[in-house]
Amino acid sequence: MSNVKLAVIFYSMGGTNYQLSKWAEEGAKEAGAEVKVLKVQELAPESVIESNEAWKATVEATKDVPVVTSEDIEWADAIIFSVPTRFGNMPSQMKQFLDTQGGLWATGKTVNKVVSAMTSAQNPHGGQEATILSLYTSMMHWGAIIATPGYTDPIIFGAGGNPYGTSVTVGQDGKMIEDVQAAVKHQAKRTVTVAEWVKKGNQ
Ligand SMILES: Cc1cc2nc3c(=O)[nH]c(=O)nc-3n(C[C@H](O)[C@H](O)[C@H](O)COP(=O)(O)O)c2cc1C
Repeated sequence: MSNVKLAVIFYSMGGTNYQLSKWAEEGAKEAGAEVKVLKVQELAPESVIESNEAWKATVEATKDVPVVTSEDIEWADAIIFSVPTRFGNMPSQMKQFLDTQGGLWATGKTVNKVVSAMTSAQNPHGGQEATILSLYTSMMHWGAIIATPGYTDPIIFGAGGNPYGTSVTVGQDGKMIEDVQAAVKHQAKRTVTVAEWVKKGNQ
């Protein structure tokens, strides 16, 4: 049993990043971590969501997932973020959450969190690395310790070979094109392992 507490924080409109988050939860639990899967607050007007069947279905599927708070960040030793790309950036919903953590940051409570990120896009070169980097840029300001998958396991090559973090292409039908489940689980386990090392070194 690991003593690592991991928060998996996601935004998802079509369900992909929710699924990636659940796979990360599975991987982290197998590594012995205590895990919370959390969503960021939706900012889009209800009328817009209502007009999009896939979006409506995701809101329904995630209705019991708690909305992340500063307390969750304080609680976590490690965080995995999962977001769809928005023109090569994280979605505004995730950015809004990060931008409201100034109070936590100011008291040093974001320091030494072990973090890692995943993403999805509609095109194989639609901004995956840039989206993950947009999250990592904020994490450097938090004083977090970024744990990337790199090429630490052959599984990563089979999942598209993104060393920044697992990424997946989503087809027009909303389904994932590559099979990334094993890569997500590997990334989650690696994040837990690095967090264990950091915790041990800090005792
Ligand atoms: C406003 C907007 C911008 C997007 N920008 C891109 C983009 O630059 N490149 C790309 O490949 N996909 C882009 N997409 C597609 C999403 O990334 C894709 O639908 C998402 O990864 C699916 O994840 P989800 O099911 O978790 O919502 C965009 C979608 C929206 C709504």
